[in-house]
Amino acid sequence: MNIHKEFQKRRAALLKKISPQALVILPTAPIALRNGEYEYPYRPNSDFYYLTGFEEPEAIAVLAPKRADGEFILFNRPRHREKEIWEGPRAGQAGARKNYGANQAFPIDEFAERLSDLLVSRKEIYCLLGVHRDFDEILFATANKVRGRIRSGVSYPVALIDIGDLLHEMRLIKSPSEIKIMREAADIAAKAHIRAMQACKPGVLEYQLEAELLYEFQRQGARYPAYTSIVGSGANTCILHYNANNQSIKNGSLVLIDAGAEYRYYASDITRTFPANGKFTPEQRAVYNVVLEAQLAVIKIIKAGLPWNKMHETALQVLTQGLVKLGLLRGSVKELLAKQAYLPFYMHRTGHWLGLEVHDVGQYAIQGKWRKLQAGMVLTVEPGIYIPSDLKNVPARWHNIGVRIEDDILVTSKGCEVLSQKAPKTIAEIEALMA
Ligand code: GLY
Ligand code: MN
Ligand code: MN
Repeated sequence: MNIHKEFQKRRAALLKKISPQALVILPTAPIALRNGEYEYPYRPNSDFYYLTGFEEPEAIAVLAPKRADGEFILFNRPRHREKEIWEGPRAGQAGARKNYGANQAFPIDEFAERLSDLLVSRKEIYCLLGVHRDFDEILFATANKVRGRIRSGVSYPVALIDIGDLLHEMRLIKSPSEIKIMREAADIAAKAHIRAMQACKPGVLEYQLEAELLYEFQRQGARYPAYTSIVGSGANTCILHYNANNQSIKNGSLVLIDAGAEYRYYASDITRTFPANGKFTPEQRAVYNVVLEAQLAVIKIIKAGLPWNKMHETALQVLTQGLVKLGLLRGSVKELLAKQAYLPFYMHRTGHWLGLEVHDVGQYAIQGKWRKLQAGMVLTVEPGIYIPSDLKNVPARWHNIGVRIEDDILVTSKGCEVLSQKAPKTIAEIEALMA
C-alpha cells in the first residue's frame, strides 16, 4: 500500500472511534535545543507521525469529524525562500494538501486565531496532555475564549481527553507495512551487533565499539540509533542503563551491548553479551546459558492469547532454577520464587512493547488484569543475570558477570517471529564469529 494511503486509513480508523462532536488536535514534537541555539536532530512526535506521515517541525494536525470543509486540517510552516536556503525545503500548505492528504492547510502562525472557530460546538477535545506545553497553553486560553461566546449561541468543549487510550491501542497492533519496516530495523541492528563483535578485542575502548554500531546503522540506512547505545564491559555489564561507554575493554571480561537502530522512525532493541577475547570462561558460559535458556523458554511460549505476565513468570522460573544450579541461590525454587530471591541478580522486567518508540505505547494490563497477546504486537524478550562485585555471599569468580540477551518478537496467531534472529546468540555462534 502507498504509505500515505496508510496514514489516511489510520485517520479514518481513529475518526470512527470518536463522537462526531469531538475534535482531535495533535501537535508534533517541539524543536529541542542541545546548546545555545543549536538544535538536536529533529524527530516528529510519534503519535503525530503515525497519523500524518509529516516529518517537519512546527506542525499541528486537527481531525474534525463531519466538518464541511474537510476533516483533516494541517497547520504547518509556510514556504519561505530565505529560510529554505538555510534549512532545506518545506512542504508548505500546497504540499500539505497534495502530498499528505490534508483537506485544508494553514500557516502554523494562524493556529491560535483559527482554533476558536474549530472549537465551537465541539464537545470533547482529544489531545496529548502535557507533551507540548506551549500548545497546551494556547488550547486552554482558546477554550476559555470560546466559553465567552456562549451568548452568541455556541456551545463549547466540556471534556479534554487524552488520546492515548484510543491511539495507542491502534499503535500496539502493527500493520503489514509497519512489520516490514521493523524487520528491517532489526536486521540493521543485527548487522551492527555482528560488526561490533568482530571488531572487539582486549584494549579497545567501549565507545570504539559504539562507533562500529553507529557506522553500520548509517551504512544500512538508519541514520540514528533508537536510543543511546549501551556498551559496557566488565563491571559495567552490571549497570542496566550504562552509557558512559568510556572504559577500556579488558582481556577476560564480558561485553554487553544493548543497541538498536531507528529505521523510518521504528525502533529495534537488541542486546548481546560476548567475551572480550572471543572465548567464554567457564563461569561466563554457565551464567550465559542460564539466561539463554530463560530467553528461549519465553520465546517458545509466545503466541496470540498468552497473558502478558506469563513471559515474566517463565523467565523468573528458569532464572531461579539456574541460579540454584549455579550455587548462587540455595533452597527450593518454589520458595525462592515466593520470596523473590532472584531480585539481587535480576531486577528488571522481561520485556516491553516495541514500535515507533523503543518503550512503545500501549497498556500492559486492562482493568487490573494482564492483557493477552494478539497477532501483530511486537515486544522484546530480555532476561538477564547481573553479578556486581559487591553482592554479598557470592564467590569472587562470579563477580562482574552481567549477561542480558534481548530479541525483538512479532506475535503471530500460531506463535511468533524473532525479528532480530540474525544476531548470533548461542555460545557456539558467538565464538565462531569472533574466532
Ligand atoms: N534498551 C532499553 C531496553 O532494553 O529496554
Ligand atoms: Mn528493551
Ligand atoms: Mn535494550
